Amino acid sequence: MERPPCVSIFLVLCVFIQSSANGQSPGLEPVGRRSRVVETKEALQETETRFLLFKEETDKGCQIRLNHPDTLEQCGFNSSLPLVMIIHGWSVDGFLENWIGQMVAALKSQLAQTVNVGLADWLTLAYRHYTVAVRNTRLVGQEVAALIQWLEESAQFSRSKVHLIGYSLGAHVSGFAGSYMGGKHKIGRITGLDAAGPLFEGSSPSDRLSPDDANFVDAIHTFTREHMGLSVGIKQPIAHYDFYPNGGYFQPGCHFLELYKHITKHGLYAITKTIKCSHERSVHLFIDSLLHPSRQSTAYQCGDMGSFSQGLCLSCQKGRCNTMGYHIRQERQGKKHKRLFLVTRPQSPFKVYHYQFKIQFINQLKKPTEPTFTMTLLGTKEENQKITITLDEEITSNKTYSFLITLDVDIGELIMIKFKWENGAVWTNVWNTVQTIIPWSQEPLYSGLVVKTIKVKAGETQQRMTFCSENTDGLQLHPSQEKTFVRCDVNSTKLKRKIR
Ligand SMILES: *[C@@H]1O[C@H](CO)[C@@H](O)[C@H](O)[C@H]1NC(C)=O
Ligand SMILES: *[C@@H]1O[C@H](CO)[C@@H](O)[C@H](O)[C@H]1NC(C)=O
Ligand SMILES: *[C@@H]1O[C@H](CO)[C@@H](O)[C@H](O)[C@H]1NC(C)=O
Repeated sequence: MERPPCVSIFLVLCVFIQSSANGQSPGLEPVGRRSRVVETKEALQETETRFLLFKEETDKGCQIRLNHPDTLEQCGFNSSLPLVMIIHGWSVDGFLENWIGQMVAALKSQLAQTVNVGLADWLTLAYRHYTVAVRNTRLVGQEVAALIQWLEESAQFSRSKVHLIGYSLGAHVSGFAGSYMGGKHKIGRITGLDAAGPLFEGSSPSDRLSPDDANFVDAIHTFTREHMGLSVGIKQPIAHYDFYPNGGYFQPGCHFLELYKHITKHGLYAITKTIKCSHERSVHLFIDSLLHPSRQSTAYQCGDMGSFSQGLCLSCQKGRCNTMGYHIRQERQGKKHKRLFLVTRPQSPFKVYHYQFKIQFINQLKKPTEPTFTMTLLGTKEENQKITITLDEEITSNKTYSFLITLDVDIGELIMIKFKWENGAVWTNVWNTVQTIIPWSQEPLYSGLVVKTIKVKAGETQQRMTFCSENTDGLQLHPSQEKTFVRCDVNSTKLKRKIR
């Protein structure tokens, strides 16, 4: 088993896709177009999909049936309240996954406004070859649309109150449901949780979830790391707001190292577990937004994760930031997709606090240096110990470095930074080497490295701050020596008084 396990599952996927292509159709034309003849609304009397409503947060669900108004009453459907409907994805074992119960419970117990909570159970159509399940997504979409149309006709329910939450293939089912609704008005909202990638990536908007399918569409992308041209979750933006936590490739706590632990414990089944970890993280991020109303994660519009990691995108101007999850600000500006990035913790609560640090160095060393620093941040609420920073590049001359720092806890307003040059030993060696090669008798011993200012921008509060060395003399940074930086922008004296 030398091959990375992740590749293996992609092989499995490839085999699925190819075998069914060989067996059933001459090629891979767009899947949606080949779906079975669209049944008209009138013809659809029964649905293959089971629609369940949940009265309590722990019940097993009560089945509502198309054209049976009595089932609506039995199951406690209240047409004056919104309907949140969960739609699961491809099934590898034919069972409903555990997260569904967790999401039902969170929707039932955590919202200020009561909502009808439903599930579209399409297991009989999802527990198939991947390509077959993909083909079934249109049919299930039609059935969901038929149900909503029937609710409009028989219960004076408004489609604008519908929120579909679809995971993996379920995200595309939601999209099809939205597009099959017809008429002038769209359903209220669709949330796509790591919408499936294979056979959807690069397809036209009508063949996958797209912003056209509802008044508001949001998507969370968590496992888009590509192998052999395939990624489990779709990479391209498909919503009004597309969130890419941790870049969207894979998620913290889901690392391959974990896989080996899983394999010893669960055997080969671990492979699906590892795939599920990052893929299903989208679901848990969403549930987290329901469970922790006071710890909502903010995400920021950015071109790519590289720029985000440099802290360059922490702006909320002109609607550039938004809240990830259920409580997203539902505003649409322009037609363009917005790609938003954020960092998360490896487990719930997932929220972190984002900061951009811009450190201005003046390097008078003759030799470039590649230092490691640690910082201790003191805030009005908490002190955060030792954050290690390794600059990716050498400090060669005068330069300002910008990078992203994230904290798990809210330290309040930042008031002091303790800054330390850590790899002194390494540096001393360099120093000795240089000294022996070039006799520097004229130079002061530590002409060294100077930190001029540290500028900080807090993403969550949008506050900007500037820090300077506490003593104006001795600006040089010496290996292993700690320097204290305090606020030196206009309001610093006022702030100091507030603290003391
Ligand atoms: C439906 O919800 C509304 C709004 O919360 C409430 O006033 C009404 O009593 C509910 N109807 C039933 C039958 O529970
Ligand atoms: C860096 O800045 C210092 C002080 O502003 C200046 O003396 C020095 O010449 C600068 N070095 C370079 C390479 O620009
Ligand atoms: C300084 O404080 C005033 C009033 O407290 C505030 O309006 C202003 O935005 C602050 N300026 C900065 C740079 O923080």
